[in-house]
Amino acid sequence: MSESLLMLRLEHRNTSALLNCLEHQLTLIRSGEPMSPRLMTLAIDYFEHFPDQCHHPKEDLIYRVLRQRNPDLAEQLGDLEEDHKRLADTTRELASAFRHPGDSPPLADILERFLACYRGHMDAEETHFFPAALESLTANDWASINFEVFDSDDPLFDHSEEEQFAELRDIINSLDQRESARLQFQQYATRLQSMQSQSDFNQAMEETGRSLRLLRFTDQSWGLDAEGELLFRIPPCSETRAVWCAALFDRGMDAAHGHAPGSA
Ligand SMILES: [Fe+2]
Ligand SMILES: [Fe+2]
Repeated sequence: MSESLLMLRLEHRNTSALLNCLEHQLTLIRSGEPMSPRLMTLAIDYFEHFPDQCHHPKEDLIYRVLRQRNPDLAEQLGDLEEDHKRLADTTRELASAFRHPGDSPPLADILERFLACYRGHMDAEETHFFPAALESLTANDWASINFEVFDSDDPLFDHSEEEQFAELRDIINSLDQRESARLQFQQYATRLQSMQSQSDFNQAMEETGRSLRLLRFTDQSWGLDAEGELLFRIPPCSETRAVWCAALFDRGMDAAHGHAPGSA
């Protein structure tokens, strides 16, 4: 396969990961949780620059060659260059809604439309455009495209620019992971607050498929049992405190095993 096409597919994978980060922000907005302004700012900045500077020019180049080689097939795909301009418009609309909140329509609606447009566009390219190009372009076409993309005096692929965008993608992804961890912790804290009794704890363990059970002994001490094995004893204390000890132990086990807190 052509190096240019490989690179485009890799860029689609990276873009999909960022769209997932934005989808996560959309979920937060829809559920009334605060979004991450920093993540939104960086992601919008990325989408305002990377596609038109690095990604779409390569696709436009391939599309123009495809139109020469197989005009009928290119016609069936629609006008890819126009689609890219529409995506840029949708991105500007998203940026404006984010930077000027309060204007209508609401940010969540625009973000939802942005995600649908981008995903639909990339799906169509993966399903129709790339296979059509592979089918119709000659080895010489791909050699010329690769030269234009990578090696000409003014290449479409600027390595240093790509590295900067890769750094930005990493920052956005790590922000998203931190945000997810924070939310999971919040959900866990909420769950913990709702667990006040031994039966609450044991029921939560059962519902999430865990083997931990909180036991009460006659001397008012407590024990944490896993499949018949007593893991440790909790000195005599109130039922609520024993539940918290057990829940914190459970969370520590989650962290040790790399699970999300509170997940099965
Ligand atoms: Fe595209
Ligand atoms: Fe694309």
